[in-house]
Amino acid sequence: MLNGEELVGRAARDLVKASYAIALTGAGISTESGIPDFRGPNGIWTKKPEAEIRAYEVYEQFRANPKGYWEGRLDPEGPISRIFSIFGEIEKAQPNAGHYALAELEKMGILKCVITQNVDGLHQKAGSKNVIEYHGGLNKFRCVNCNRRFSKDELNLEKLKKEGRLPPYCQCGGVIKDDGVFFGEPIPGDVLQRSQRDAWKCDLMLICGTSAVVYPFAALPEMAYKSAIVIEINAQPTPLTGRISEYLIQGKTGETLPKIVEKVKKIQKG
Ligand code: OAD
Repeated sequence: MLNGEELVGRAARDLVKASYAIALTGAGISTESGIPDFRGPNGIWTKKPEAEIRAYEVYEQFRANPKGYWEGRLDPEGPISRIFSIFGEIEKAQPNAGHYALAELEKMGILKCVITQNVDGLHQKAGSKNVIEYHGGLNKFRCVNCNRRFSKDELNLEKLKKEGRLPPYCQCGGVIKDDGVFFGEPIPGDVLQRSQRDAWKCDLMLICGTSAVVYPFAALPEMAYKSAIVIEINAQPTPLTGRISEYLIQGKTGETLPKIVEKVKKIQKG
């Protein structure tokens, strides 16, 4: 069995050989930026299981009563705002060495895209250009009908509230909700299609910091593994380990990914 250092070398060699490498990421890649994950020892759901149960109810509330959802969402003391507050001060968070390493691999032409479950925008802040936000993004909004995205500046929610014009509507007539995907909510069609296309197309999938238990995201490695090398970098084994992934580099993404980038550079120099 190869040790951690040897596996880092193996991952670097595999990346250099790959013609269409992609990365999949989860909350684990952002813990070193001070954002808690969900199911790790200090995870949001680990510590507050009741918050996970409440999170399951939000999408139903939105569907049943979009106006009520938005009124609750814009009330700082309301239950929906409290759910959003579990994300803490995400906006102030900065990328860590793991995010920067993935951005560098993209710049080098090795990594073609990052498909992330994270809503924190840290891959983009680190310089990654081709990022698919599988579960949407924070502080963005989306029409549930045509999937058009809206920035905070495009929707003056406080004004709409004052004028009694909630919920916000898109020009197409669809209701607008937060872009973040809730439990029970379908993944937006455009995101689903792009992610599946890349999962089928890739010949290497680098999976970083996800417990890989939430579907349909966790189905992406299952689509890829027969024709691609699937590598995991994670603090602990996951349901993919030894079944779907060829090897797991157990450790922190913020430490392991920069080491891989260094090895890649050495290989390329010859
Ligand atoms: P999880 O919290 O389920 O998994 C994070 C994984 O990363 C765990 O296995 C941790 O052990 C590991 N980890 C933590 N810090 C790490 C580090 N520095 N380096 C390497 N590994 C580390 O988070 P996700 O898999 O992203 O969905 O969760 C998936 C979805 O569940 C989220 O997108 C969210 C949540 O409910 C929605 O909100 C729809």
